[in-house]
Amino acid sequence: MAGAGIFSEIIEEEVYKYYAEGEWRKSSSGKSVPIINPTTRKPEYKVQACTQEEVNKVIEGAKAAQKAWARTPLWKRAELLHRAAAILKDNKGPIGECLVKEIAKPAKDAVTEVVRSGDLISYTAEEGVRILGEGKFLVSDSFPGNERTKYCLTSKIPLGVVLAIPPFNYPVNLAVSKIAPALIAGNAFVLKPPTQGAVAALHMVHCFHLTGFPKGLMSCITGKGSEIGDFLTMHPGINCISFTGGDTAIAISKKAGMIPLQMELGGKYACIILEDADLDLAASNVVKGGFSYSGQRCTAVKVVLVMETVADAVVDKVKAKVEKLTVGPPEEDCDITPVVTESSANFIESLVMDAKEKGATFCQEYRREGNLIWPLLLDHVRPDMRIAWEEPFGPVLPVIRISSVEEGIHHCNASNFGLQGSIFTRDINKAIMISDAMETGTVQINSAPARGPDHFPFQGLKESGIGSQGITNSINMMIKVKSTVINLPSPSYSLG
Ligand code: G3H
Repeated sequence: MAGAGIFSEIIEEEVYKYYAEGEWRKSSSGKSVPIINPTTRKPEYKVQACTQEEVNKVIEGAKAAQKAWARTPLWKRAELLHRAAAILKDNKGPIGECLVKEIAKPAKDAVTEVVRSGDLISYTAEEGVRILGEGKFLVSDSFPGNERTKYCLTSKIPLGVVLAIPPFNYPVNLAVSKIAPALIAGNAFVLKPPTQGAVAALHMVHCFHLTGFPKGLMSCITGKGSEIGDFLTMHPGINCISFTGGDTAIAISKKAGMIPLQMELGGKYACIILEDADLDLAASNVVKGGFSYSGQRCTAVKVVLVMETVADAVVDKVKAKVEKLTVGPPEEDCDITPVVTESSANFIESLVMDAKEKGATFCQEYRREGNLIWPLLLDHVRPDMRIAWEEPFGPVLPVIRISSVEEGIHHCNASNFGLQGSIFTRDINKAIMISDAMETGTVQINSAPARGPDHFPFQGLKESGIGSQGITNSINMMIKVKSTVINLPSPSYSLG
């Protein structure tokens, strides 16, 4: 049970504490924020509503702790991360249970998220010791006009305090993908988890706490965005922000100071299916990509662009598979589970209704009970429908029939987003040429979209993000290069 066993110290009087200065604390606000279970639509947990003063304190503590941490040998930092990974994996059960109750993630996927996160931490520790253990040596006489009198040594130094803001759909995995690189690189971090997912994140932080990291190096602040959101992102003590989520990132990037930003905002993943594609493979991947975790992934397939000549066959195959998806509670490990909030369900419904009014063909009957929306394939979607462009983040998938590859590429590139895209074809030359033409951070050939494996670069163009993620890129993003130049006497200097 969540809150039991090793986790008992993180909760008191049914309210989860926040983490600061190496201990679990109650906020001086005396207020809490409720977390609504998406399935029951009743309050499931409560977390502290932290104050701005508490934010100031954790950042101050982080600054002090980071200085000593930066001098801690790299192998020791790696060792602690490996230990944290093991404790996290040992607790996949209770943490997975929180994910089921807070964000309605199907039970098996919830456990997988925790295990994947442990693997990510270990890989980061290993990658970190290699990347950070290397610097550069340059000599001056390779640049015109210089003698060989200067030796430049470069090393990699931490940025300071990293603010990590993960989204509700991966509150554990997308938290550790930020905090593990921050730690191995010698930074401190402040984690601001999403409200839905905060309790799973607090459990994850407790695994780090049990590992024995220095006090103040890590903190986890919960509360209302309206109270502490801007205060955190605009705080002068923050030296880097790594954010995954929605439009908020645009506002953050405008308000943040002169600090490195790593941002991922989502996408309108286009899946282009050509006439020569393996249609069974395409259909399976459309269903996997479009409906896993009920479409609540930034990398979910969000629009299918299929050549008219094979459209009937593809729609029939996808439809048959959609009808086999199980719908129900996450505890029963159903494929389609309730979406995260009622407002999210209302938004999805508004896109569906707009498409209906404008003449889209519904391959299934639209059905909703509370936050639970049955999977829906919408055929004959046209560009004047909102669902052709907007991101539902739910189990509804539009199909646009195209008469040329150029039309598919044009639709993909006309989107404000540019995260990932897919092409299904047996012609590798064509696939590469279309990939070159698609304005997205990644193109998958003959597969569903995915961020992982977690060491692959992951980035979005246009409004899909800033910078590149993936373990290696995240470590490199959370450091600065420092040069030390050794100046030697002029060449005429005599040794003897
Ligand atoms: O929701 C955004 C995530 O980065 C997607 O990750 O492809 O592993 O589901 P995923």
